[in-house]
Amino acid sequence: MGSVMQHNILYLIACIQQELLPTLHLESKEPHNPIVVHQVPLPWICLGAGNYAAVFAHPDFPEQVVKVYAPGRPGITDEVEVYRRLGHHPAFSECYASGANFLVLKRLHGITLYDCLHSGVLILPQVILDIDEALDYARSRGLFPHDVHGRNVMMSSGRGLVVDISDFLHQSPCLAWQDLKLAYRWIYRPIFWHLCLRVPYILLDGVRAGYRLFVYFSRS
Ligand SMILES: Nc1ncnc2c1ncn2[C@@H]1O[C@H](COP(=O)(O)OP(=O)(O)O)[C@@H](O)[C@H]1O
Ligand SMILES: [Mg+2]
Repeated sequence: MGSVMQHNILYLIACIQQELLPTLHLESKEPHNPIVVHQVPLPWICLGAGNYAAVFAHPDFPEQVVKVYAPGRPGITDEVEVYRRLGHHPAFSECYASGANFLVLKRLHGITLYDCLHSGVLILPQVILDIDEALDYARSRGLFPHDVHGRNVMMSSGRGLVVDISDFLHQSPCLAWQDLKLAYRWIYRPIFWHLCLRVPYILLDGVRAGYRLFVYFSRS
């Protein structure tokens, strides 16, 4: 990292500690649903939330995001280790710094595949190929792609990105990406592709819950 960049990151960390963290209120209501973000101080914006953490951006730092873990949610040291092993790769973010409950990451400018379905944005086949290639790269670095689902992958200028690698140290098998590819091939391409359908969040979340039950009963 260059010295200007390092200086920028130190300044960002000061903003996180002085402005963001004292006001921010995150709550993990259920372990299987995204955490709830109650209060975000201006001018920070929330870019998204997962089951462990929420991710924020500040307009003065357009190339970085801050991932803040909800109280009691583990995994931050694993995530730092995964980024250490990944090094630089165009389909992944990078970790610039970490604190007790936050990470400073490279911002990925894209839209999650989950949000593509919601907004009717066409998901191109190249995106799927790029993510496959990125996951092979992760395996070559001693990692185990895990939990690769629609909220954890993005499309950016027609290319695929993997936005969440936090479970890549888990060795237990996870078929989420294989299942997502099957759904892309057999449901998305023949139906959604032609009709440019938009799927309401309530239906997407229903599919997510149904998929979790399917995995629980058929594969556990
Ligand atoms: N580096 C990033 N750049 C831009 N947006 C991001 C980045 N990392 C995460 N996000 C957004 O925040 C959401 C939650 O982040 P994620 O890492 O998936 O959290 P969790 O580990 O809790 O699942 C993602 O779905 C995505 O919308
Ligand atoms: Mg996630």
